Amino acid sequence: MKSSSRSYVANPGGRVSGEVRVPGDKSISHRAALLGAIAQGRTEIQGFLEGEDCASTLSALSAMGVQHERVGPGHLVVHGTGMKGLRAPPHALDLGNSGTSMRLLAGILAGQSFESTLVGDASLMRRPMERVAEPLRRMGADIRTHDGHPPVTIRGSRRLAGCEHRLDLPSAQVKSALLLAGLYANGRTRVQEPGISRDHTERMLGTFGVVVGRDSDAVSVEGPAAPRAAIVRIPGDFSSAAFLIAAGVIAGTDTLVIRDVGINPTRTALLDILRLMGADIRVHTRSSADDEPRADIEVHPGPLRGIEVPAALVPVAMDELPVLFAVAALAEGETVVNRAAELRVKESDRLAAMATGLAALGVAVEPLADGLRIQGGRVRGGTVDSHGDHRVAMAFAILGARAESSVIVRDVQNVATSFPAFAPTARALGLHVSEEG
Ligand code: S3P
Repeated sequence: MKSSSRSYVANPGGRVSGEVRVPGDKSISHRAALLGAIAQGRTEIQGFLEGEDCASTLSALSAMGVQHERVGPGHLVVHGTGMKGLRAPPHALDLGNSGTSMRLLAGILAGQSFESTLVGDASLMRRPMERVAEPLRRMGADIRTHDGHPPVTIRGSRRLAGCEHRLDLPSAQVKSALLLAGLYANGRTRVQEPGISRDHTERMLGTFGVVVGRDSDAVSVEGPAAPRAAIVRIPGDFSSAAFLIAAGVIAGTDTLVIRDVGINPTRTALLDILRLMGADIRVHTRSSADDEPRADIEVHPGPLRGIEVPAALVPVAMDELPVLFAVAALAEGETVVNRAAELRVKESDRLAAMATGLAALGVAVEPLADGLRIQGGRVRGGTVDSHGDHRVAMAFAILGARAESSVIVRDVQNVATSFPAFAPTARALGLHVSEEG
């Protein structure tokens, strides 16, 4: 059992500058492992995120007979078993803290010929799963949830039928589960979303040789379709870079460069938001033959002003809103974010966790039904609770650099899900973040 007593102590006065890399993209790593598993033969993955969430995906795949080897840091070879080669797992698949693992696997498992059960840690067991179960049922899947939550039990069926889905909310995890199930289904599976969600699955399917139809607000696959083993190079995770970008803006003394970060446009709205707040951030695109664009991101320190965040940018910055709320506490004037109700069903209720933590640091913050209103200015020191949420933990650790005294962040062990070396990386850049417990 993991200890839940680890804390960060973030002391004020860090001086951020230099050059750094961030670990591989979490979303892309999951997809590379999953598609590698159901492709036949050897898939080579470079830049794989060696964090707990992606380890959950790999161990679920191992339990179903998919072997992999670690060739070097972030360098994996997955020995895919082919579309029909997965074996019934001998036990429930424990996906830890990883919603992406659970939802994407549900799509693949719906098309198998065996039964499987998906469970996770306390946070994952509270997260909504009908959003994937209900549309998968419409394709013929036999899938049960427990009052809408895990455990998710899937009695696989080789008789899935492609269908048209219209999602109520944009969701990359739901879209991906349906496209993955669509590989096993007969006919066309088409997913239409009411807004933008990350498109890594569509791009990765292309890397694995599956033709993906795209029109303005929908994507589709024609099943059955077998992915072909591939070589995948994964860029640095923009969502991890976001914490360092924020640190460079609020606590920089000189230029900070974050090398080789994924800049898929479905992920990078934080840059637009910070620029609207006055930040000077430059993106130097790197040439690459891969399906995902990458760049070096150059950050200059400077003052920020509060803004009303444009609604169109909110869904494309959803995972970065915790750190945006943190920097908004230092901006001049008021920052308002609306239309972010999805934050309530992430690894924690991120609106509540950020509002409570900011208030504990003396920030004037008003919780809204679907967002927060933050009055920027002074940030005192104090103790905040991350609620076991990696992104909340890192957001407060960064804010400590500009607080009036130390910020202690409790319950930070889940940072290992996405950015295991966060604290040493932050220290190497000049932040005073130490770990205790
Ligand atoms: C993810 C999709 C997003 C994001 C999550 C990872 C993915 O969720 O918040 O952290 O890898 O597909 P949605 O399904 O709400 O888009």
